[in-house]
Amino acid sequence: MTERESDVNPFLQGNFGPWRMEGVAGDLEVAGAIPRELNGTYYRNGPNPAFEPPGRYHWFDGDGMIHAITLGDGRASYRNRYVLSNGLKEERAAGRALHSGLLDLNPTEAPSFKNTGNTNIVWHAGRLLALMEAAFPTRMRPDTLDTLGEFDFDGRLIGPMTAHPKMDPETGEMLFFGYSPFPPFLQYHVADRTGALVRSEAIDVAWPSMMHDFAVTKDHVIFILCPLVFSFENMAARGGPFSWEPERGTRLGVMPRSGGNADVRWFQTDASYVFHPMNAFADGDEIVLDVARYGRLDFMSRQGVDNLDYRDDTAARMHRWRIDLRGGGVKSTPLDDITAEFPRIDERRLGRRHRFGYTAAREPELNAGGRPVWSAIRKYDLERGTTETRRFGAGNGVGEPLFVPRAETSAEDDGWVLVLVYDQARDTSEFTILDARDVAGEPVATVRLPHRVPYGFHGNWVGA
Ligand SMILES: [Fe+2]
Repeated sequence: MTERESDVNPFLQGNFGPWRMEGVAGDLEVAGAIPRELNGTYYRNGPNPAFEPPGRYHWFDGDGMIHAITLGDGRASYRNRYVLSNGLKEERAAGRALHSGLLDLNPTEAPSFKNTGNTNIVWHAGRLLALMEAAFPTRMRPDTLDTLGEFDFDGRLIGPMTAHPKMDPETGEMLFFGYSPFPPFLQYHVADRTGALVRSEAIDVAWPSMMHDFAVTKDHVIFILCPLVFSFENMAARGGPFSWEPERGTRLGVMPRSGGNADVRWFQTDASYVFHPMNAFADGDEIVLDVARYGRLDFMSRQGVDNLDYRDDTAARMHRWRIDLRGGGVKSTPLDDITAEFPRIDERRLGRRHRFGYTAAREPELNAGGRPVWSAIRKYDLERGTTETRRFGAGNGVGEPLFVPRAETSAEDDGWVLVLVYDQARDTSEFTILDARDVAGEPVATVRLPHRVPYGFHGNWVGA
């Protein structure tokens, strides 16, 4: 009998392993008190392969599953559903996986592609969209989590959409981009506050790359072009479609929001990879861009995934870039020496000067092995240069922290940090509400979920 991928792949084991039941649970047990101001739903997306993978599995491959925790009147309920993509429907009909993953792309065959919708879930203009960066958004029903189907902005979106659109807190616009290994390699898009796609423009880039996220300020858009180059030669030897070519360096493309492709200026910095910026803002003639920066990226090939070690410079650390729009340089300053990812801010500060940020962090003494288990939540005060850390213990991994303000007008860190925490001893998960002004202190409330929620990617809060 041949070995199953789930017997050998660490991303299919422990709390990385899929949870395959869909269900609903009301009146969950709560320790502490859920703040009455928290009225709404936290949606979280992540990869959750519905069937045993047919070949090598990459963490980015799994079918999307939405976990929704609804809070109101101090009570909590839970619901989870798959993003029911066309690909998953075919696989359910067949009773087995039909689509191979990222590490098994075969350039000589027609791509067998599945829009897993597994990366993020966002709310804009009355639509709940599950996103994965290589495809159209998938529209979901916010109450039942039924999949409504792919959404192409009424036929106006040509090409894929990033999983990391930016909602401008003043204009209500949704700014986003899409990248592709084939021309046009990069396109920039704007949806207005009603959700209508009002602008699409191809942006020239020096090479095709996997661009996971970007940044915006009040007046600029910043594209992050890293030396992770799409290359379909020697794919078998390299173990994937990407080639890490550090001699190219990393380039930051700054475009005025009032301008277009002809106005993009590129700024050079040391070779590095960024999945996630924390935020960007203008500071005089400079743009400040805080990012979770990897010195190199080994995560996108078979060999790299097999040999990951989160102690070395393959791990992300928070970092500040200052782009000098007048002088032309990029000043590069580490903000922290602890490994951290999934940076978030108060979304009301998006594109504006932020003082506080939140990440999932790894503690050095727990840094072993090749799986990104984040065991702490770390708050940054970037004005004072201080951090605060809430530890959950080895094996009790956390997900992306999400800040929710107490009220529309409350101060930047007056609110809560919502985070899913795995409880390894009980093999279940908890939804933890931390006081954003006392992240290291005891949680304000802990909601016991009916079962574990696998480690995933991104989530957002939608007020009732
Ligand atoms: Fe992401």
